[in-house]
Amino acid sequence: MPRKIISISNQKGGVGKTTTAINLGASLALLGKQTLIIDLDPQANATTGLGVDPSTLSSHIYHVMLGEAALASIVLPTKVGGLFLAPSHTDLVATDVELMDASMRDRIMAKALVSLDAHYDYILVDCPPSLGLLTLNALTSSHSLLIPVQCEYYALEGLKSLLNTFQLVKKRLNPSLSIEGFLLTMFDARTRLSHEVAGNMRDHFDSQVFQTVIPRNTRLCEAPSYGLPICLYDISSKGAQHYLMLAKEIVSREVIHEVKATSR
Ligand SMILES: Nc1ncnc2c1ncn2[C@@H]1O[C@H](COP(=O)(O)OP(=O)(O)OP(=O)(O)O)[C@@H](O)[C@H]1O
Ligand SMILES: [Mg+2]
Repeated sequence: MPRKIISISNQKGGVGKTTTAINLGASLALLGKQTLIIDLDPQANATTGLGVDPSTLSSHIYHVMLGEAALASIVLPTKVGGLFLAPSHTDLVATDVELMDASMRDRIMAKALVSLDAHYDYILVDCPPSLGLLTLNALTSSHSLLIPVQCEYYALEGLKSLLNTFQLVKKRLNPSLSIEGFLLTMFDARTRLSHEVAGNMRDHFDSQVFQTVIPRNTRLCEAPSYGLPICLYDISSKGAQHYLMLAKEIVSREVIHEVKATSR
């Protein structure tokens, strides 16, 4: 199977991007898919959430963005077999300024990925909560965009600028970029609001909304402080089960696409 690069982005903060990157990544690895998580957020939450202390690293994604290190050279194994991490660091916050005058500054990540071995089945890019240069780099280098949407008021309004950016990148920088799906996160079945937001999203975006919905689950908040994905922290939790379902949904779509492509 060709490798697939998925950006996980939403400029709104705290909607579940990093939780999704870590736990979808770990679930894909459990399904036997070689998976790389690229932490492209200066907050480095995916890095610490996978048990890596950024202050101990001599090179990380910032050096890749500056052209000082190859992407492959910074990749680390994780506690999950088949899951790898390209770690981040707060230094990454300087990228915007440092690359102000660089040519093709929105294609740096795309170039870095070209030189990476093709042995990964999936690459997930955890984006920061902004639509700046880092997110542009992620979208320019990806096949698709996965958008976590928290089940709360104004969820839909918040998507406007992200979808504008998606269209702009598609038109100018990466014509083959597609929407992998909208993922409803922190769904609380007891509240009417959660059901309303889910209903609105399905009315607007129809089958682009993943069938799998991620429930609000405290085990998902606890796992990062142990540096573990949910499947190693509490595999029986609802959070673990639903991220595994999401991974299966994504993999099975891939199979359907391949069957369609070969039968054409
Ligand atoms: N399904 C869930 N159930 C309960 N808590 C969750 C769930 N998903 C995420 N959280 C919690 O919500 C907070 C925000 O999640 P997360 O860090 O994944 O969001 P984010 O979009 O990456 O944030 P940022 O925009 O700052 O990068 C975290 O404390 C996380 O543990
Ligand atoms: Mg995050």
